[in-house]
Amino acid sequence: MSFVHVCICISVLVSQSLSVNKDNFKSCDQSGFCKRQRNYEPGESTYIALLNSLKTTSTSIELQLLNKKNSVKLLLQVIGLQDNTIRVKINELSPLKLRYEIPYGEVITKQPVQQEIKVDGSSQKGVTFTVGDTTGVISAEPFRMDIFSSNEPVISLNARNLLKFEHMRVKPGWFSSIGSGLKSWFSQPFRETPQPDPPNDDHEAESDHKEGENEEGKEENEENKEDEPKDEPNMWEETYKTFTDSKPNGPTSVGMDISFPGFQFVYGIPQHADSLALKTTKNSDPYRLFNLDVFEYDIYSPMALYGSVPMMIAHNEKKTVAVFWHNAAETWVDISSNVADKVADFVQGNNEIPQTDTHWFSESGIIDLFIMMGPRPKDVFRQYALITGTTALPPLFSIAYHQCRWNYNDEADVAAVEENMDKADIPFDVMWLDIEHTDGKRYFTWANDKFPNPKDMIGKLSSKGRKMVIIVDPHLKKDDSYDVYTDAKSKGYFVKNKDGSDYEGWCWPGTSAWPDFINPDVQQWWASKFVYDTQPGSTPDLFVWNDMNEPSVFNGPEVTFLKDLIHHGGVENRDVHNIYGLYVQKATADGLVLRSGGRDRPFVLTRAFFAGSQKYGAVWTGDNMGEWSHLKISIPMILSLNIAGITFSGADIGGFFKNPDAELQTRWYQAGSFYPFFRAHAHLDTKRREPYLLPEENMKIVRDAIRARYSLLPYLYTQFYLAEKDGRPIMQPLWVEFPEETATFGIDDNFLLGPALLVRPVTEQGATTANVYFPGSDQIWYDVQTYAQFSGGQEKNIDAPLNKIPVYQRGGTIIPRKMRIRRSATLSYQDPFTLIVCLDKQAKALGHLYADDYRSFQYKNREYIHRGLIFENNQLESKNFDRNSKYTTKEWIEKIVIAGFKKTPNKIFLKKSDGSTIELGHSFNSENKVLTIRKPDVNISEDWRITIN
Ligand code: NOJ
Repeated sequence: MSFVHVCICISVLVSQSLSVNKDNFKSCDQSGFCKRQRNYEPGESTYIALLNSLKTTSTSIELQLLNKKNSVKLLLQVIGLQDNTIRVKINELSPLKLRYEIPYGEVITKQPVQQEIKVDGSSQKGVTFTVGDTTGVISAEPFRMDIFSSNEPVISLNARNLLKFEHMRVKPGWFSSIGSGLKSWFSQPFRETPQPDPPNDDHEAESDHKEGENEEGKEENEENKEDEPKDEPNMWEETYKTFTDSKPNGPTSVGMDISFPGFQFVYGIPQHADSLALKTTKNSDPYRLFNLDVFEYDIYSPMALYGSVPMMIAHNEKKTVAVFWHNAAETWVDISSNVADKVADFVQGNNEIPQTDTHWFSESGIIDLFIMMGPRPKDVFRQYALITGTTALPPLFSIAYHQCRWNYNDEADVAAVEENMDKADIPFDVMWLDIEHTDGKRYFTWANDKFPNPKDMIGKLSSKGRKMVIIVDPHLKKDDSYDVYTDAKSKGYFVKNKDGSDYEGWCWPGTSAWPDFINPDVQQWWASKFVYDTQPGSTPDLFVWNDMNEPSVFNGPEVTFLKDLIHHGGVENRDVHNIYGLYVQKATADGLVLRSGGRDRPFVLTRAFFAGSQKYGAVWTGDNMGEWSHLKISIPMILSLNIAGITFSGADIGGFFKNPDAELQTRWYQAGSFYPFFRAHAHLDTKRREPYLLPEENMKIVRDAIRARYSLLPYLYTQFYLAEKDGRPIMQPLWVEFPEETATFGIDDNFLLGPALLVRPVTEQGATTANVYFPGSDQIWYDVQTYAQFSGGQEKNIDAPLNKIPVYQRGGTIIPRKMRIRRSATLSYQDPFTLIVCLDKQAKALGHLYADDYRSFQYKNREYIHRGLIFENNQLESKNFDRNSKYTTKEWIEKIVIAGFKKTPNKIFLKKSDGSTIELGHSFNSENKVLTIRKPDVNISEDWRITIN
């Protein structure tokens, strides 16, 4: 796809009905390894575990696996990890060439802490082991592995015999063409383990190379193994459209089946524009994980999108378990289920135990599977966070409202938008500039005619507490007068063609080259470009947006890199494709930290991502459309990201393409005001649609939604803090909080923001009511506007005219809010809090309040406040929830609202930490049972207690 082609398509299609051009992206049938793996039907098992190769340490088990058909051996390692987690690695025992493994650092920060693994017994049948609460059985013949939780099987590996490991091999016909020196090297048994093989092993005897086997014999042997894939044209070279992948290593894919007995529902493996509960792929392609710039993506599709997190959660009313397939190559996942497939086939179900079977395959690398045993959703999130990290606590401004468009044209335009937002009294924290702010799409430069004084422009925003974000894409314009390009070129920092020359492709600036972010030196070099003296126009209030970092290459296969491009260390793009974007964001975030000498938190938005990207900033769902269906799908898309660790995520409000009408924009703002990342964005060719341009009625409703978001920032910020500690999602499916409630398992149009707020955005055109599912049969839910009460465990049709967002606070929770809405969140740092206490059936409630300086890393030096707010026995108390904290602030509590308070109170007293007691004013609404306590006037860092008599 050429640049011109892209532009024409974009402008023509902005006003028409849009859908992806599937011809630009491979189907499984068009991908050699996908087809081979998917069609693999071995019948009986290929692999046996060689029990006399068993080796154990206190934390690991090692066994060789023998492929009976071609005699190739694999090495299985089972490693016990802390917190009920097991790692299963399968690699070639003695590969011809080392297979790629993602190094520790960015995806998995460091070697996970190991835990004791006890071998309980080994017999001729296999090996049984225990890790924490989990038992496992490795069966020898056929090889499979079953993992049990409380004696029930929950995960089985290779139960369907689909383990298929395309071992590294010599290209057929190649051997006879090489010189005698190399031939004698190859005459060494290159597949055998370096250690002596265990004696008396029948299978060993079968598999050993014959004594005296000559070189030709060996080659013949290589080519004639029974199960050696027959030489298909796309095994050693693969052509897609006009692109040929030279595949220097031939077929190297790895695949295995993973079954979840007892589970009907599986979730995760973002990014797909699909429902939260994953579907059977019986009648479609498998779900694909391959970072791609998909123009006008389809919804309800398993097609790949911009980012990949190969992590899947299986959940039922008793247990939650998860797997993380730690592989950065192109990956596909097939899903079948004894329940869902029947539904798909319109066959009546019976009462058999549900089971979901999945089949994973990657083009290269190894099998490196983390099994997280839960047993509850929150345990799985914590276990996954221990492996890939948690979302870094964002600076407060970045969870407020962002105003973006491709493009704000010049400094006057930026000033006018700001002025109009202020006139309409709509708060916002961040103005964004897209690619047109640069000099000819040369990132780190400014279009001087339009943005002659960037520092002044940013300074004006800063004076109202606001920030600016500019786009910095990873493609660098090929231009010998562009210093960033020439610098990278002279240092040899670009991604290379297979012949070693710099790879060039097309993107926004025309011919471009891509820094090799896989190289740690390149990451450092890139980071240094954000230092104040280096980045023109930069100030501490300038932040960054990384786009097109899949990477997008307009004239590349599937709009991206060729797979045989070469990265640092001679690694092919095939191996690392899905982590390129993560490194771009990481290097950018490093730069923002570097520029402040490590003091300030960064903010970087990325389009491409992988497992672990949560550590480096926010993610959005790319180029969606201004259509109702895209508003609706944004909820499951963000939920899927959240449960896979990418919690700081959102979708373009209003939709990127097309011109949404006022109703759709209004409903989208209402939904978006509950996205963890809240940004409006629009395509270059769309009509201007800043919220003040809406008709008065809609504008007011949108303003209310944005203002409501601002009032909730203290709650949201607290949730982000808690999530940084334990990996919990910010936007949560209902089953996370109500894991036993089967009715919630398929719901993805209602969600929870943190544990306390139930949100059911209206996503249907013309709707004036909405079906809200209130979870928890013992719960009370309070309408956040009226405090009307609803019992849990039921679905109810609620009035939802245009000005209504169905949002409910859960009984038993306390939410901190700030009700004085200012122009930006930054201006509210010192403002007082209002506490909203919603009582449960026992007249109790609990909440957290977290505060710090809202912008720096000082909270890591104990500069924070974490209070526990506890209501019981008609007393509300604030306790220090963290003795490490030592921050002081001027913030205080100005009001307390207690909903669900049953009797008319008499007197209310506040006891402060200095021992003094004062009586507080109050009012009580006996109709809606809301007690309002006025002006406790107590600092949030103090201990205090309010007693209601
Ligand atoms: C593609 C991004 O997805 C979109 O948000 C952006 O506006 C354009 N690139 C132009 O930079």
